[in-house]
Amino acid sequence: DRCVLVGAPVQSGTDRLGCDMGPSAYRAAGLPQALRDLGLPVEDAGTVVPKPFDAPAHPNRAIHHLAETAGWTLALAEAAFRVSDAARPIFLGGDHSLSAGTVAGMALRAKAEGRPLFLLWLDAHADLHTLDTTTSGNLHGVPLAYLTGRPGFAGYFPALDAALDPARICMVGLRSVDLAERAALTGSGARVHDMRDIDETGIVAPLRDFLGDVAAAEGLLHVSLDVDFLDPGIAPGVGTTVPGGATFREAHLIMELLHDSGLVRSLDLVELNPFLDERGRTARLMTDLAASLFGRRILDRPTRSF
Ligand code: ARG
Ligand code: MN
Ligand code: MN
Ligand code: MN
Repeated sequence: DRCVLVGAPVQSGTDRLGCDMGPSAYRAAGLPQALRDLGLPVEDAGTVVPKPFDAPAHPNRAIHHLAETAGWTLALAEAAFRVSDAARPIFLGGDHSLSAGTVAGMALRAKAEGRPLFLLWLDAHADLHTLDTTTSGNLHGVPLAYLTGRPGFAGYFPALDAALDPARICMVGLRSVDLAERAALTGSGARVHDMRDIDETGIVAPLRDFLGDVAAAEGLLHVSLDVDFLDPGIAPGVGTTVPGGATFREAHLIMELLHDSGLVRSLDLVELNPFLDERGRTARLMTDLAASLFGRRILDRPTRSF
């Protein structure tokens, strides 16, 4: 049950500078030691470097750093596939565009093991813009569109081996969805739990249902945790704060249920901006959440099977 830490200081997906300091902030917050304290062997795979990628200019003039983001996608997909061979990777971001690479690489890993990949997306945002619909031009808003094979990425991003089936994606925490993204979600087959849903029914039942399906399919689960999933009051260190996010207790409960399921193979920690943080509190909270996902608990209790 080895963990491997992979630095992914991706900054090209947002015009708000500071995400590239994320990996050092997690180390300063004590993430490696927190995992070792759980008795897990932890390996540090160092920092990924983007590969050159020749992307032509895109007609959407809002887009910035397209070739660089595509280069990160290529490098991270390779890294994710390689390090996930005999360990569970934690990708230390970096803005959310990095998931285009990490999830693509984990999809290859799943394929190599003959199992389906499932994706849990914990985020205020859907990150479902295509290159044609983004108006901010910030490519951290597009990874799910790329991964699910929405049109318009060919030539601009690395060719995707196989698109993710939206039915294997569960999104939790949405509260800032642009019109083009909402239209793409309608009828997509993705499981979507916006904040209203969480307020009305809570998070436990839908999460257990999703985990039950992952288990039944003998799937491999990747979790992508965006800092802005959390309420800005407890997690200010992010460039895209949206009020009304997950509470400390909701977030920890999700991590604990994920650990109990035994299904999580890989994790992205994304969008931490240490420049905007308050004395490291967001980095520490994300570290504590990762520790809960990897087994930190209050008391021993019988594990529920899914
Ligand atoms: N939908 C908005 C945009 O495209 C916000 C995206 C925020 N994404 C993120 N990973 N924080 O600009
Ligand atoms: Mn995001
Ligand atoms: Mn977000
Ligand atoms: Mn079900």
